Amino acid sequence: MTVVIQEQSIEADSPAPGRMLTVTLNGKRQRVHIEDRQLLVDVLRGNLGLTGTHVGCYNGDCGACTLRIDGRVAKSCLILAASVDGSDIVTIEGFGNGQLDPLQQALWESDAFQCGFCVPGHLFALDDLLNNNPEPTDKEIRDALIGNLCRCTGYMNLVAATHEAAARRRCSAPCDKYERDDSEV
Ligand code: FES
Ligand code: FES
Repeated sequence: MTVVIQEQSIEADSPAPGRMLTVTLNGKRQRVHIEDRQLLVDVLRGNLGLTGTHVGCYNGDCGACTLRIDGRVAKSCLILAASVDGSDIVTIEGFGNGQLDPLQQALWESDAFQCGFCVPGHLFALDDLLNNNPEPTDKEIRDALIGNLCRCTGYMNLVAATHEAAARRRCSAPCDKYERDDSEV
């Protein structure tokens, strides 16, 4: 039996189609060259070095890649970077404008996380909840976290911390009751 192997021509590596992406990222205008096929989370982490946006699944299931685009929370593993040209993006590096937001502080004080992998996504989901609902119930908090998974801690402390953060945000400044005593740290 004769086996005929057909010759195939394989094109030399050619650069993937790309473009310049321009966004406002954490308050600053940013231009970066991307490949058309790149996901937003990969551009943030790989091209721009913003590794606070995490990847747990690339599937839209875990919520670790959650951030804010044009004022709305989104999962950046489900979004092509090319589709957000011109957008205003906030990652965890820009959360709270460089200071600990009451929500971050409440999570920290309530032992609401262990490894911290889920925290960036949780913060955006809970921030969105509190922006729209300043006094949520337990159920509303749990519902808001339905797309964000934590493998370490469970959710009881997260719920408690969210109530605490909601109270702090409602409290008109200065609110001495909620000021943290740094001498204990
Ligand atoms: S990495 Fe995006 S939802 Fe899991
Ligand atoms: S604290 Fe580890 S995954 Fe949530």
